[in-house]
Amino acid sequence: MKLNLGAICRMLGHEPTHDRVQRDTRRLIGQVNEEPAMKLSLLTSVAMLALLGACGVACAAGDVQAGKAKTAGCAGCHGVNGEGVGPFPPLAGWSETQIVDALQELKSGKLIDPVMNPMANMLSDQDMADIGAYYASLKK
Ligand code: HEC
Repeated sequence: MKLNLGAICRMLGHEPTHDRVQRDTRRLIGQVNEEPAMKLSLLTSVAMLALLGACGVACAAGDVQAGKAKTAGCAGCHGVNGEGVGPFPPLAGWSETQIVDALQELKSGKLIDPVMNPMANMLSDQDMADIGAYYASLKK
């Protein structure tokens, strides 16, 4: 939480002397902490952070329909139905995790491919999850 000490002091009609500010700020924070709603939302945030931490990228649930839209630019090489075109590998039937892992490695540069590195660079974690869910939904 970011408190504008000067504003708080003016609000309280105090001169913003250092000790005063500290005391008033402590009191204000104390009041806020007593709010049950605030406590609840704090707990919720902590719980959500814990969930995110435990799941990470692998748990980000992909959306098949969103993924379909996001693969429009991939179809030229990987096929309209993920079947692969010419030398380009098929992606249909890969699991969401396999696709996400490959894209993360391409984005981080762990996997080098001159064509795919810039492609993966443009994708967010959510994009990758959606794309993975879409290819996973297709038959090999
Ligand atoms: C211009 C052609 C082209 C386009 C467009 C393209 N790719 Fe690729 N893709 C490749 C090539 C080439 C490889 C590397 C193949 C290899 O190394 O065997 C590859 C590899 C991949 C791999 C890893 C496959 C593996 O064997 O590890 C994934 C996943 C992938 N592409 C996803 C995508 C997605 C998602 C898009 C669209 C956002 C996309 N590609 C667009 C050419 C393309």
